[in-house]
Parts: sequence; structure tokens; C-alpha cells
Amino acid sequence: MAFHLQFFRPTSAHVNLENLAHNVRVLRQAIGEGVFFCPMVKANAYGHGDVEVALRLQREGVKTMGVGLIEEGLLLRQMGVTVELLVFGIFDLQGAAEIVRQKMTPVISTWKQLEFLERVFISEKDQLGIHIKFDTGMHRLGFDWLEARKLFQYLQTKKNIFKVKGILTHLHSGEDAAKPEGKSHEQLRRFLEVENVFAPMKPISHTLNSSGLLNFISMRKSGVGGLPGISLNQGTRPGLSIYGYSPLGQAVNGIDLKPVMSLRSRIARYQELTIGESVSYGHTWKALKNSVVGVVPIGYADGFHRILSNNAVVLFGGQRVPVIGTICMDYLIIDVTDVFSSQNQNFQSWSEKTDAEVTLFGYDRLGNLLPASEVAQKTQSITWEILTSVGERVPRVFLDDRARDTVKVQKEVRK
Ligand SMILES: Cc1ncc(COP(=O)(O)O)c(C=O)c1O
Repeated sequence: MAFHLQFFRPTSAHVNLENLAHNVRVLRQAIGEGVFFCPMVKANAYGHGDVEVALRLQREGVKTMGVGLIEEGLLLRQMGVTVELLVFGIFDLQGAAEIVRQKMTPVISTWKQLEFLERVFISEKDQLGIHIKFDTGMHRLGFDWLEARKLFQYLQTKKNIFKVKGILTHLHSGEDAAKPEGKSHEQLRRFLEVENVFAPMKPISHTLNSSGLLNFISMRKSGVGGLPGISLNQGTRPGLSIYGYSPLGQAVNGIDLKPVMSLRSRIARYQELTIGESVSYGHTWKALKNSVVGVVPIGYADGFHRILSNNAVVLFGGQRVPVIGTICMDYLIIDVTDVFSSQNQNFQSWSEKTDAEVTLFGYDRLGNLLPASEVAQKTQSITWEILTSVGERVPRVFLDDRARDTVKVQKEVRK
């Protein structure tokens, strides 16, 4: 099952595509056949490696995926992703031409985008499939929901050019989507009005990111039916959840999401420190007893943020051990005294024999889990940011049961 590739650097992000496939199956099963399902593979598939992730999703039968940038879609097309690609970002005239050329599907938020597409799409027989985004309160992208009728009337006159395949909005507080008094309810109510206006065009409608979707599933499972104020077959655009994390902070009954990425490295050097000695820049940590520490070749330039200095744990020898001192650009230091002491050995032979693997987040080889969400809490950030922060110079190693000979490093794939 595991594959081996030689790297000069012992730090890598292990991307378990079986877990990805599992998460997708579990989510799709819960929402039911036929419901629009558009996993988000933008931002390098949340740091996991967009080409491998998208190819695996395609193999799992996913029919539509979401990218943020035209460039992201372009790479996927070049690497053999043939399914529908929704492009969520804003684009100019040049971008519009590329979208059309690459047969991607634009998500439109402005009148200008419509104008650009009209200028570049020339076809006697086909229409250009588009999705229209509405701003129902997030105030980021999308047409104001109050413009729905004006837009509908305009698009009625452009039927020879545009086919409105989808309409959508984005929840700004999807965590509260199960509560009738929540902010999502107001957005969903507004979107329902947009849906009514566009009903004659019979578009797919989609609103649910991971938090909305998991709330939706949990309401269904508890017999309530759906979310307050939402049409039943509401389409979905899960991101974080397909990578194994619930934004709700709690498990949803029957949905066992498995983290896909495990960030691992190996101790480069062990040292014995005597009581009172310190480590790293600024000597912010001091040994309160004789200690054994390990230097790990991963640092803030790899996405392990400096704010985690003296404020994180990692997995080592099946245990959680603390990160000590200031995190450097390429290195951090961990205190492995407890693991060493529990094994009751001589330092020299122990440091030579011990499996030096360190798991920064995700699963270690024994199956112990340190969730990226826990790292996120310590950085006062969010799981999305921890995953997408894993740097370019960290090779991605893909575990894929069904393609036994195809471990690839993201950079190699991109060549
Ligand atoms: C428009 C849109 N839909 C869906 C998502 C997926 O969100 P999540 O990762 O919370 O599931 C995003 C992510 O930012 C988004 O921008």
C-alpha cells in the first residue's frame, strides 16, 4: 500500500487519496443521488495537490469541480481533467476568452463578465453554459440578490448565447444553517426569491459549503428534513469536508471524515541538554531538567507558522511531544525527553535506533491522529489556512491504492 520515493529532504506531505475518496463517498451517500456535487479543488486542492486530487475525484465519478483561478483550471485541463470545471474567480476579457477556449464554466458575478463573454463567445449552434452567483449577504462576489429579476430579463434576451445552468450563493456563517434564527436563514430566504425568479430557466441551484452541507445532513438524519428555508435538492460545493475535516467542530452522526493530509518529517539531530540550557533564536525556552531534544527540518517557510513557537505538539514515538523554542525558517525543535525516558536506554544507542519520524499533523504511521484543526486552534487560525499553508517546497506523496505505481510529487506532475 505504501510507496517509496527518494527525496533529499525527509519532510513531506502524505496525501491519502483513499481517504479523499472515502470522504466523497460518505458525503454523496448522505446527500443522495442526483444532487449537484461540486467539490472545491481551488488553491492547489486546499494544499493537497490539485492535479492528483482532481484526477482521483474524476475517477470517483465526480462530474463537476470548482477552481478559483483560470490558471488552476488550465493546469487541470492540461493534466487530463475533462469534467466540468466551474471557475469562481473574477475575469477580464482575456480570461473570458481562455475560459471559452478551455471549455470551462464561468461563475458570473458582474455585468462586465457577461459582456466579456458575449464578446468572445462566437457560435452559431451552441450556447455557453454559465452559473450566476448572487450576493445574499456575504458582500464579496455576486450580483445583488435584488437584481435577480433584471438579470433574468436580460438573460431572456440572450438565450442564443447563454444557457443558465446554475444559480448560487455563498453562506457567510454556514455553521448556523440549522438554526431558524441564524444568519444563514436570512441568506437562504433571499436566495429562495432568486430561485423563484429563475425557475422558468430550470437551473441547478447550489449554496452549501461544508458547514451548510454537514448541517443539512445532520438535520436530515435527525428526521427534520432539511434546513430551514431551503429547497430540498439544494446543490453542494464542499471543500474542507472532502479533505477530512468538519467545520462544525463536532462529528455528524454517520459521517466519519478522514483527514487526507499528514505532514511528516524526521529528526535530523538529537541532543542532550543539561538543566538551564536553551534552544533556538532568542533562547525563548529553557530546560527545566536534563532533556533530550530533536531538531526537525521543517519551519515557517514550509507553513508551520512561527506563532506555534513554544505552543504546539507533534507526534513522536506514538506520543504527543512539545515544540520548544522559536520556530525557524527551516527547522523547529521538539522536546523528546519523555519518550526517551520511558524507553530507559542509553542516549547514544537510543538516538541511533529510534524511529525518528515526526508527524506535524495528520496520522502517524501507527494510526495516531493529530488533527490539523488542533494546530489551527493554536495558531488562532482555521483548518483551511493550516492546510493551504503547506509550502511549495514540501513534496506531496500520494497514496493511491488503485494506482500502485503512480506515486507522484506535485512538482514533477506540473512539469
Ligand atoms: C464559493 C465557494 N463555495 C464553496 C466553498 C467551500 O467551502 P468549504 O471549504 O467551507 O466547504 C468555498 C470556499 O471558500 C467557496 O469560496
